[in-house]
Amino acid sequence: MENESFIRSLPKAELHVHIEGTLEPELMFALAARNDIALPFASVEDIRVAFRFSNLQSFLDIYYQGAQVLITEQDFYDMMMAYLERANADGVRRTEIFFDPQTHTERGIDFATFMNGFSSAIDDATTRWGLSVGLIMCFLRHLSPDDALATWHQSEPFRDQLLGIGLDSSEIGNPPELFSEPFRLAREAGLHVVAHAGEEGPPSFIAGAIDELHAERIDHGVRCEDDPALVERLAALQIPLTMCPLSNIKLKVFEDLSDHSLKRLLDQGVMVTINSDDPSYFGGYVLANYVAVAQALDLTRDDLITLARNSIEASFLDDAGKATLLAELATIAAA
Ligand code: ADE
Ligand code: ZN
Repeated sequence: MENESFIRSLPKAELHVHIEGTLEPELMFALAARNDIALPFASVEDIRVAFRFSNLQSFLDIYYQGAQVLITEQDFYDMMMAYLERANADGVRRTEIFFDPQTHTERGIDFATFMNGFSSAIDDATTRWGLSVGLIMCFLRHLSPDDALATWHQSEPFRDQLLGIGLDSSEIGNPPELFSEPFRLAREAGLHVVAHAGEEGPPSFIAGAIDELHAERIDHGVRCEDDPALVERLAALQIPLTMCPLSNIKLKVFEDLSDHSLKRLLDQGVMVTINSDDPSYFGGYVLANYVAVAQALDLTRDDLITLARNSIEASFLDDAGKATLLAELATIAAA
C-alpha cells in the first residue's frame, strides 16, 4: 500500500510501548516450554482467541498472566530483541520503552535479571541498526504507593539505565496524586516523568498527572476531549499525548476508529503522537497504527509528516539527536 511505504520511510519515534505487551503468542509458548510453565492455552491459536477484551481490566488480567513465562535473562533479551527488530522494520529510529518491574519482582525475579536482558538486547540493536533506545520504568497503580516507593529504591543500582519513570495499569480508582512521592524522588534524581491518564479515567486525572506528578507527557489522554478547557491547556503548553489507536479500539475506549479523537485534537493544535501500546495483544505495531488511522480518519500526507515530527519533538532525545531526525524528515517532506 502506498501510504504504508511512505509512513515506513518517515523517521519516527515510538513513545508508548510496554515491552511486556510485545510478547507474541509464539514466543510466549516457546518460553513456557523452555521454563516448564503450564499455560492455560492449548495452542498459539487459543491464545489469539483469548485476546478479545471488553475493557482495560479484561486485557490486564491476561497480560499479567502472559508475563509469567519470563524467567531468565535470556527470556527478557529475546522479548526485547524481537520488539526492536520489528520497530526497526517499521522505520522507528528512536524508541522509549516501558517496562513493569513489579510484574517480575512480585514473582521473585531479580531486578538484575530483566535489566541485564534488556540492556544486552538494546546494545545489540544499537550496534546492528543504529536504533536509539531509552527505558522508562513504570509503577503499577493497582499496587500501593508504598510498593512503588520500594520499587523506586530497588531500582537504585540500575538508575543510569533509566530514561524516566511512568505510571500504568488499572486507572479507574487509582488517581495519579497517590504516587506523588515516588515521582518527586524520580524528578529529583533527574529522570523524565510520564503517566498514563485519561485512557478510561476522567480528564481530572490528566490535570492531576500534570499538576501533581509534573508529567512531561500524557500516555493516551484521549478523554481530554470531555473538558474543552483542558484541551486548550494541552495545546497551549504543547504537552504531548502518546496515543495508541488500535489499543483504544481493542479496549473499547472508542467503538470505531472513525470515532477516534486523534484528528480532532491534532486540528486543535494538541501535540498528538501515534504509538502501539501492547502490539502483540492489540493486533499491530506502530506502522500498522499509523496506516489504520490514516485510512479511518482520512489523514493527509501533511498530517502524517506532522505526526512523525511530533513524535521526534515529544521524545526525550537531546537537541542534537532531534535535529538529525528532523532534518531527515524535512528532506522527505520537501520531496
Ligand atoms: N499496561 C499495559 N498496557 C496498558 C494500558 N493500555 N493502560 C494501562 N496500563 C497498561
Ligand atoms: Zn500503555
